[in-house]
Amino acid sequence: TIVRLHGRRVWDSRGRPTVEAEVTLACGATGRAIAPAGASTGSGEALDLRDGGETFGGLDVNKALAALNLVIAPALTGMDARAQGAIDAHLVELDGTPQRSRLGGNAIVATSMAVLHAAAAALGMPLWRYLAGDRPVRMPLPEVQIFGGGAHAARRVDVQDFMIMCPAAGSFAEALEWTAEVYRAAGSLMKQAGKLQGVADEGGYWPAFDSNEEALDTLLQAMQQAGLRPGVDAGISLDIAASEFGRGGRYKLALDQRTLDSEQMIAMLGRWLDNYPILSIEDPLAEDDAAGFARFTAEYGARCQIIGDDLLVTNAGRVAAAAAAGHTNAVLIKPNQAGTVSEAHAALTAGKAVGFGTIVSARSGESEDVTIAHLAVGWDAGQLKVGSFARSERMAKWNEVLRIEESLGSAGPFSGWGALPLKNR
Ligand code: PGA
Ligand code: ZN
Repeated sequence: TIVRLHGRRVWDSRGRPTVEAEVTLACGATGRAIAPAGASTGSGEALDLRDGGETFGGLDVNKALAALNLVIAPALTGMDARAQGAIDAHLVELDGTPQRSRLGGNAIVATSMAVLHAAAAALGMPLWRYLAGDRPVRMPLPEVQIFGGGAHAARRVDVQDFMIMCPAAGSFAEALEWTAEVYRAAGSLMKQAGKLQGVADEGGYWPAFDSNEEALDTLLQAMQQAGLRPGVDAGISLDIAASEFGRGGRYKLALDQRTLDSEQMIAMLGRWLDNYPILSIEDPLAEDDAAGFARFTAEYGARCQIIGDDLLVTNAGRVAAAAAAGHTNAVLIKPNQAGTVSEAHAALTAGKAVGFGTIVSARSGESEDVTIAHLAVGWDAGQLKVGSFARSERMAKWNEVLRIEESLGSAGPFSGWGALPLKNR
């Protein structure tokens, strides 16, 4: 039974205010969680409540904390923390708006995740085990950013995430070892070429490349230098985040100062798919270009994972509709996009029901909170996307999965290729 819920202001990985919720149960168990924050958000996602005004660029969270402490806390006090579905439904009802604009998506998601932690703690279980129950689990395939771009690097390159995946690794731990070598190799290649400008929001290198293709070439070279066979041991994964530069079927590329229509955008990505070992592409087109998504998935969906992020905003109804229309073959799962843990789980379940790839994902604004590592394992998502291989708000998640993998031993096999919804491989 929940006896106390407290919200406090803490700071995220961009030095911005965010909401932490702490739940105490009658048995003394506690749970704590911190809301993350996106930069390239989908227009359909749950909205954070921010104060506006002058302080901290208008991003302070006093209104969200007031909602948490004065509205949510009294409403949840006395409820059973194990009844996650009932608690999340109550949060949705209390807010009463379609995008959580009254109480704030930040207050709501922090509360929802903190309740989950408290319930697991009351049973003395790791969170992933509380979620999985007796079902078998797999260790997720990590999708790791090597270069940052788009909204996370002042639009220095158009593509937001240049990532690698190592599906042929024998374990999660080995996938990270391979990734570490690629990250190192990419850094030294960039330094030699005078193209390194520090790190972007998610810890990937902030590049000074002259084209998106230069990034792809460098990534390919880094994989080879790390001793990996491209397309066999490891492959490239891209988040185009096309909603950031596309609208109404017009895509404005900053790098080569061209505007493409939807067909030309698809043709460009198709050339990349032909020339590079790309295993996955997220948001290849803008969230308002459903027809483009359908054409792209019809043409390339058998050989490439096509993920909806801004398009699907972790919404079960949208996932089912996208499957019926052939818009994507995979869905990104961000708890704060959905609003609550239960809604995020519903979106993941909807994805699995239609054979989609499912990827639990962090946001560009993160913290030491490792809830998503447990969701990825406990829900058997198959894939986990956390950002790069640097900065502790990212490494905290990777390291947490390492601990879980070690504790499970052979009972926690690596998902590897099986996580990807590829028919022709
Ligand atoms: P965001 O980006 O957290 O800044 O929205 C992450 C993504 O697009 O996947
Ligand atoms: Zn994305």
